[in-house]
Amino acid sequence: KVYRASTTAPVNIAVVKYWGKRDAKLNLPTNSSLSVTLSQSDLRTLTTASCSASYPASEGDSLLLNGEPSDVSGARTQACFRELRARRAALEAADPSLPKLSTMPLRLVSENNFPTAAGLASSAAGFAALVRAIADLYELPASPSELSLIARQGSGSACRSLFGGYVAWRMGEAADGSDSMADQVAEAKHWPDMRALILVVSAAKKGVSSTSGMQQTVATSGLFQERIAKVVPENMARMEKAIKERDFEAFAEVTMRDSNSFHATCADTYPPIFYMNDVSRAAIRAVETINQAAGRTVAAYTFDAGPNAVIYYLEKDTEAVVGTFFHVLGGAIDGWKDSVIKGLKPTV
Ligand code: DP6
Repeated sequence: KVYRASTTAPVNIAVVKYWGKRDAKLNLPTNSSLSVTLSQSDLRTLTTASCSASYPASEGDSLLLNGEPSDVSGARTQACFRELRARRAALEAADPSLPKLSTMPLRLVSENNFPTAAGLASSAAGFAALVRAIADLYELPASPSELSLIARQGSGSACRSLFGGYVAWRMGEAADGSDSMADQVAEAKHWPDMRALILVVSAAKKGVSSTSGMQQTVATSGLFQERIAKVVPENMARMEKAIKERDFEAFAEVTMRDSNSFHATCADTYPPIFYMNDVSRAAIRAVETINQAAGRTVAAYTFDAGPNAVIYYLEKDTEAVVGTFFHVLGGAIDGWKDSVIKGLKPTV
């Protein structure tokens, strides 16, 4: 008999960025962060988890990612497997009639509906889907927050993809990480007219991975101390208020300031790390031009650990933002129509 469960998890894009670990092993952050989870129909990972006593034990656990065998021996994947197996084993110990799934090899098959090479944060959707698929397979009575604790150990940003809408990852204080998990600030339907546009500036894999980039920033940047002590706590409070009040002006300002602050700490890292390039900076200027022309803030940019721009705007301003963005950006990108994913909505 083969036991099986499938699930999908969407991508999330942070508006207050996670950057820095206080514990690299448990993947505990130096600051809280907040993101918008984007629609599954556009960007998501679909994962099927199965296990069977007939799967040869010698083959161990395996993962097929977009049709290619992928390594599962890494410490982060192993931590997720271990946490999920331990919870299943506890259920099996309490009820001996349950099949011993925790002792069987796991097979995972994962597909992204967007090119992994697009430079999008695929690890967030990937680990969120992996954790939920196995939790479903094991029939664990776990809440999304509890699953976010496990997904966090796979990739920090993954803990936010267990929820839809507007999601906070609270950094927590406990040394064992038991209070470092995600919660939902607001459902997607609270502010359903939010939209995101992704400008794929470069599909190349990023130069410095976020994992190693943030370690270097923590170790060498003085500006980073100011960011975690003052800037982020203020941005978190202002952002939660902006979302609760559906205040796009405030949402946009905090989003852009937090992205700028994060990239400033990267530049203050020694040696410096540069994720944005000339096209990224042209996109920032295009957003400023659009906002000036509109006489109010209609668009907000944010950049993760790469050159791709994510632009947040409201549905009613689609024409003012999307209609003019590429016009203003001019010839900065050849064939930009192929490099843009637009109209992304917050997902439930
Ligand atoms: C810039 O979650 O990829 O996208 O925990 O080491 O896997 P690890 O890092 P990861 O970092 C994401 C950093 C970011 C900001 C964010 O998503 O909050």
